Amino acid sequence: MAPASHPNTVAIVLAAGQGTRMKSSLPKVLHPVAGLPMVHHGVAAALGAGCAQVIVVVGHGRELVEASLKAAFGERVAFAIQLEQLGTGDAVRCGLAALPSGVERVLVFYGDAPLIEAMDLAAALAVPGALVVATCSLANPFGYGRILRAANGELVAIREEKDCSIEERSITEINPGVYVFAAQFLRAALTKLEPKNAQGELYLTDVVAIAATAMTPAVPVAARAEVLVGCNDRAQLFDAEVALRERIHTRLRKSGVTVAAGALVDAGVVVEPDASIGPNVVLRGKTLVKSGARIDVGCVLDNVIVEAGAYLKPYSVAQDSVIGARAQVGPFAHLRPESHLGEDVHIGNFVETKKTTLAKGAKANHLAYLGDGVIGERVNIGAGTIFCNYDGFQKHTTTIEDDAFIGSDSQIVAPVTIGRGAYVGTGTTVTKSVPADALALSRTKQENKEGYAARLKARFKAAKEATKETKK
Ligand code: UD1
Ligand code: CA
Repeated sequence: MAPASHPNTVAIVLAAGQGTRMKSSLPKVLHPVAGLPMVHHGVAAALGAGCAQVIVVVGHGRELVEASLKAAFGERVAFAIQLEQLGTGDAVRCGLAALPSGVERVLVFYGDAPLIEAMDLAAALAVPGALVVATCSLANPFGYGRILRAANGELVAIREEKDCSIEERSITEINPGVYVFAAQFLRAALTKLEPKNAQGELYLTDVVAIAATAMTPAVPVAARAEVLVGCNDRAQLFDAEVALRERIHTRLRKSGVTVAAGALVDAGVVVEPDASIGPNVVLRGKTLVKSGARIDVGCVLDNVIVEAGAYLKPYSVAQDSVIGARAQVGPFAHLRPESHLGEDVHIGNFVETKKTTLAKGAKANHLAYLGDGVIGERVNIGAGTIFCNYDGFQKHTTTIEDDAFIGSDSQIVAPVTIGRGAYVGTGTTVTKSVPADALALSRTKQENKEGYAARLKARFKAAKEATKETKK
């Protein structure tokens, strides 16, 4: 079911903190979870929940955070800058400065909650009220703000771990950090925040006490505890990673994909039903695996399109490439960027390709380097063939036309064209173009000396025995 659209609702995502507990030069919200920076998951969830726009509050490492989000979401995200990290309340204040006029409701959540999904945000948006606050219970609430309720169940305040009394620490109902505000209430409440707490910060969480004092208590909405955990350090990051991978793999399995144990599929990857992902396969970036394709043990694919019915044999590695329908690759093949394999192409073990196109039915089955090549249909490339594409200064192209045959252990010194149907004899160094249907041969003539081998061996044997005598 498509979520309701919220044209008058804008999301503010807080992502300005340094993330000290990560102990990292990379801003916390850019640490990847299932291949995507943490904050991307939250922004995608807000857009998926129907928010008209997402404002991300950036500060620490903001150039990096902005560039990363712009590349992924373009115009759909806007940015507000928090120069000094004075607390989550101050961060929302900064976010408000970028709020377009006419916005009625503001969804606020934190950029360090990568497991959040559109449905979690939609659940909070579906509840009316000047302030709606998600809550959930955790067996171990350590580190989270605790939900304080009055005897009648109304929300009284959120108390941060560091400000809690011993009794308050035993409260297991916590603040996962998802809030929906009436814009008017939010503006007014933020002016009332004061840094009177253990950390001397402006806490966003104090809005709950402000609402209670104004006799308009925050409306609680029950949230899924397992998806709203914040990632402050690398242990929590790892837990989130495991949970998100499991979610992705379960979704794929239910859609008809075999996903073996140990496989790691990134959040941005698409796998069509009836494809098979083997043990310890890693699929990264925007990889697309089409129906009937089989990716065997230990392959690593980054931004690769695998067409229907292709078979990647164990331990093949490919990046920014296309593998044609029914093509076979590996084991132990390396497709570097811009390798385009046509239908039914065969690439065998220890073959490396780079910026090279192989047309339908072409084969390079063993030990070859094919760089900057344009290879025609049904071309056969023998074992040990090297495209000498680089002169130390520039890259040059090797063109091989349809049905040509390249004998084993040949070197093709680019730029050259080997014509349609031509035949390059084994061990040839091709330095000039070969016309269609011609035979190219550059090796020296073989000479056989009758009886010479036996004489040679006798001589070497005698020499060896002479050295033994002198050592005695
Ligand atoms: C916060 C909540 C806590 C809640 C928990 C849920 C507050 C005061 N506390 O605590 O009640 O249980 O999240 O995970 O809100 N940020 C800024 N600017 C700042 C400070 C923080 O943009 O000045 C951003 C951070 O980048 C981060 C988010 O706000 O993405 C939350 O800050 P963090 O320091 O992680 O808060 P917690 O201590 O986890
Ligand atoms: Ca946090």
